[in-house]
Amino acid sequence: MHILKIEPEGSIEQWTLNREPMRNALSRELVEGLRQQVARIGEAGSGVRAVVLTGAGDKAFCAGADLKERQGMSAEEVRKFLQDLRALLVSLERSRCIFIAFVNGAALGGGTELALACDLRIASSRAQLGLTEVCLGIIPGGGGTQRLPRLIGAGKAKELIFCGRRVGAEEALRIGLVEGVGGLADARAMAFNIAANAPIAVAAAKQAIAQGAHLPMEEALALELQFYEQTLASEDRLEGLKAFSEKRPARFVGR
Ligand code: COA
Repeated sequence: MHILKIEPEGSIEQWTLNREPMRNALSRELVEGLRQQVARIGEAGSGVRAVVLTGAGDKAFCAGADLKERQGMSAEEVRKFLQDLRALLVSLERSRCIFIAFVNGAALGGGTELALACDLRIASSRAQLGLTEVCLGIIPGGGGTQRLPRLIGAGKAKELIFCGRRVGAEEALRIGLVEGVGGLADARAMAFNIAANAPIAVAAAKQAIAQGAHLPMEEALALELQFYEQTLASEDRLEGLKAFSEKRPARFVGR
């Protein structure tokens, strides 16, 4: 069985980290597998609009970096691993596709960092999220010190990171670390919902949010207009208007 299970269905895919005996920990091979899949769906004409990313079994989404593999690694090899992991996480954020993490169990260290790099997160009632690196004498190295405070605020991020504290699904929802609590079916329904909307519009909205987040408001608003232009020129915008007037669901083609 492959360490990354890919299940396409229409214009969405479910990706399952498939190393259940190691609680789906991120080995070098798994990071490389994810990199290849992100590159594949980024190719023109791939047709994949949304991905639900989850972990095999009901214990863990992802237990972070593979600590057994790490034991045999030199400092240089650890640096290379981190570089590859960080590049992978940035590629998720830059992809035109929408990534939804279905956090089906423990997501610790790199597991939470992987979920943070996704666009949206749904937690099962068994989920536990945490950046627990300081308990191991390191700090989050896959962007956790930067993405967590941007999502939930600096104070709460400091508390969780300094204490290495894990939070369950309900608390994660309350502090804004996940967008919903539910089952795999909820995550998949969200993916199908997104996939049914105009592809150029969804991708433009994702980029406008990501690129505008760190700009002064005036520049950010100007950026929004640039992305709006992309949709203005699209066939799908005209289809949206036509469908509205004909009182039927729109059939978007991604042009
Ligand atoms: N890397 C490699 N192997 C891991 C792992 C990791 N990050 N996390 C768990 N495993 C392995 C365990 O060593 C164990 O292997 P073994 O059967 O050879 O002893 C197996 O997965 C099952 O682990 P176990 O702790 O018995 O499972 P659990 O379901 O009770 O708990 C976790 C799951 C994820 C909560 C727990 O394993 C854990 O806390 N892991 C460490 C997570 C961590 O600190 N990550 C890195 C943060 S920087």
